[in-house]
Amino acid sequence: MIHSRIAGTGSHLPEKVITNFDLEKMVDTTDEWIRSRTGIERRHVAADGETTVDLAEKAARRALEAAGVAPAEVDFIAFGTTTPDLVFPNCGTLLQQRLGCRGVPAFSLETACAGFMYALSIADKYIRCGEARRALVIGAETLSRITDWSDRSTAVLFADGAGAVVLEPSDAPGVLSTHLHSDGQYKDLLYCGSGVSRGFAARLAIVMAGNEVFKVAVTKLGSAVDEALAANGLDRSALDWLVPHQANIRIIQATARKLDMPMERVIVTVQEHGNTSAASVPLALDVAVRDGRIRRGDLLLLEAFGGGFTWGSALVRY
Ligand code: COA
Repeated sequence: MIHSRIAGTGSHLPEKVITNFDLEKMVDTTDEWIRSRTGIERRHVAADGETTVDLAEKAARRALEAAGVAPAEVDFIAFGTTTPDLVFPNCGTLLQQRLGCRGVPAFSLETACAGFMYALSIADKYIRCGEARRALVIGAETLSRITDWSDRSTAVLFADGAGAVVLEPSDAPGVLSTHLHSDGQYKDLLYCGSGVSRGFAARLAIVMAGNEVFKVAVTKLGSAVDEALAANGLDRSALDWLVPHQANIRIIQATARKLDMPMERVIVTVQEHGNTSAASVPLALDVAVRDGRIRRGDLLLLEAFGGGFTWGSALVRY
């Protein structure tokens, strides 16, 4: 039986940093409020002209290098993003052209902050059925482009970044399971009300009912982690690391409590980059792999939750 395993990880954050103190000068907020409610201290924002695919290419090249895979060897690209460079061609195909792996399937999908989980799940299936051997899985965003920087309820949260993993076939299980979910009944709680078919609104911006999102996120992520463990017949004590969506430290802490995991076993990077949506899980994963916390053989639970709502988990033997 073929399994997929993570052969390498990579990430990239744009150079420009906006701290909480910078935000104090832009909207009616304070560093203390932002840190205590969200855990965020700073965020990175793309430069003028710098796009989602620009960030993704850097993360992808780092993941390929870590995996020892040449760009031309990539034979499948799944790219999660809600902030594509263009309506089309899709970001996966734009990245494919830059990497020079011509003719391979390459696509992007828009499931908001769960974009990487969806992309990972699909790439895992393609590897398992033998149709892909070197899959590049990306989560990348330039959310700063759809953030209203005069709206304090969202400007303090969202930002830009990219993360990537390379999946390859393995005899031993790497990705043990993935579970994906959506529930569109919550569509009005978190959305960007502008689009090609509906028409572009004068105000292209994320709209969010923060309190409501918070409550549903905690509940759904709690069920998602239970589901992942039950599907694998594992007790929560088997987990080495939780690699959660980096949206808000309080949501992360709630999921950790549910798993009875001390925060030392939880990868937290939200303070460095805020909510980078689809990029956040692969970004956090890459940070912890590179700083040596996550080691080969560790059991990881990845999870994310985003607009829609969409959410999902992956249980991974690294
Ligand atoms: N700075 C200072 N005050 C702010 C503020 C800001 N940036 N944003 C809101 N406030 C104020 C509100 O106006 C409100 O004031 P009031 O009591 O005078 O009415 C007060 O702070 C509390 O607002 P509330 O929305 O209840 O705060 P909260 O504790 O729920 O925290 C969030 C707000 C957004 C941090 C929190 O709800 C959250 O993180 N939700 C989840 C968001 C998320 O993760 N979304 C992405 C999911 S992928």
